[in-house]
Amino acid sequence: MIKPLFWEADTLKIVDQTKLPEQYQLIEINDHQEMAEAIKRLSIRGAPAIGIAAAFGLVVGLRQFRDLSKVEFFKKLDAISDILLNTRPTAVNLEWALKRMKQIARENENLNNKKIIKILTKEAQKIHEEDIISCQKIGKNGAEIIPQKAQILTHCNTGGLATGGLGTALGVIITAHKQNKDIKVFVDETRPLLQGARLTMWELEHENIPCTLNTDSMAGYLMAHENIDLVIVGADRITKNGDAANKIGTYSLAVLADYHNIPFYVAAPSSTIDLNLKSGKEIPIEFRSGREISNFRNTQTAPKNCSTISPAFDVTPNKLISEIVTESGFYPEK
Ligand code: MRU
Repeated sequence: MIKPLFWEADTLKIVDQTKLPEQYQLIEINDHQEMAEAIKRLSIRGAPAIGIAAAFGLVVGLRQFRDLSKVEFFKKLDAISDILLNTRPTAVNLEWALKRMKQIARENENLNNKKIIKILTKEAQKIHEEDIISCQKIGKNGAEIIPQKAQILTHCNTGGLATGGLGTALGVIITAHKQNKDIKVFVDETRPLLQGARLTMWELEHENIPCTLNTDSMAGYLMAHENIDLVIVGADRITKNGDAANKIGTYSLAVLADYHNIPFYVAAPSSTIDLNLKSGKEIPIEFRSGREISNFRNTQTAPKNCSTISPAFDVTPNKLISEIVTESGFYPEK
């Protein structure tokens, strides 16, 4: 299984996903600032993975403050949590994991700081382990809706690199492949940062699953001419009514799938469902630097200083989603 992060001998290392697939490089994360920077520049990314990363980021950040008074220690805990939370606004898993960590700390506030850090370390490991199990269950539940000989279209990266385990949408694909369903995957390159081309293609090849890369703008052609049986994607935040935010381009894909009568599935853990938000209109959307679209790595591909707009996510309304697969079945339960 491909992992985005390792906690070994009290040391935190992450795979620098900005370097993949050319280089597989681990970076050691020594404090919360380093973790916050890594999340912002997408060295670690994907909704469940950034939740897990933030939980460990809180632990490595707090370690340097273990000798403070209880009041000061808890002030630092809130400050570190805010720094990690403010890295990326759309994926709710970040907020979910940090809230859970803060609550555990509060429940144990009568213990000394060293013991609280130990308990928080265990909680971060638990969040990670739970995600591994959750991915397995999503994979199993989702594989039931994958027919034999399916041609599947996916977007962005939703595999091991984006989660603690097997993946969400990619976990479903991998599980269906392991069940000997004869599947073939078309992978949207996912402009502008190419998570599909760089990461999903790399993961699928690693799993020996037949896969073909296409640019995002080819999706309509593929649906019209290449017998796409279904689309499956992940999510960064799903609201109470079943609207789902995911990587920019997902909404267009859902509209195209609807036009071609192709089922459109979303796979995500319950930690991605935000019951506090009624509809997708309330989801905060991350806007990234225009440089990411006017340049390709260090090469300028548009006129210098041109006006740009770069939302990193869009929201697919629930009426375009056939099913949302979670670890406990389908959301909402029917
Ligand atoms: O900007 P990214 O790479 O963090 O965006 C990731 C996605 O949009 C994924 O599809 C989503 O997080 C689901 S991952 C299991």
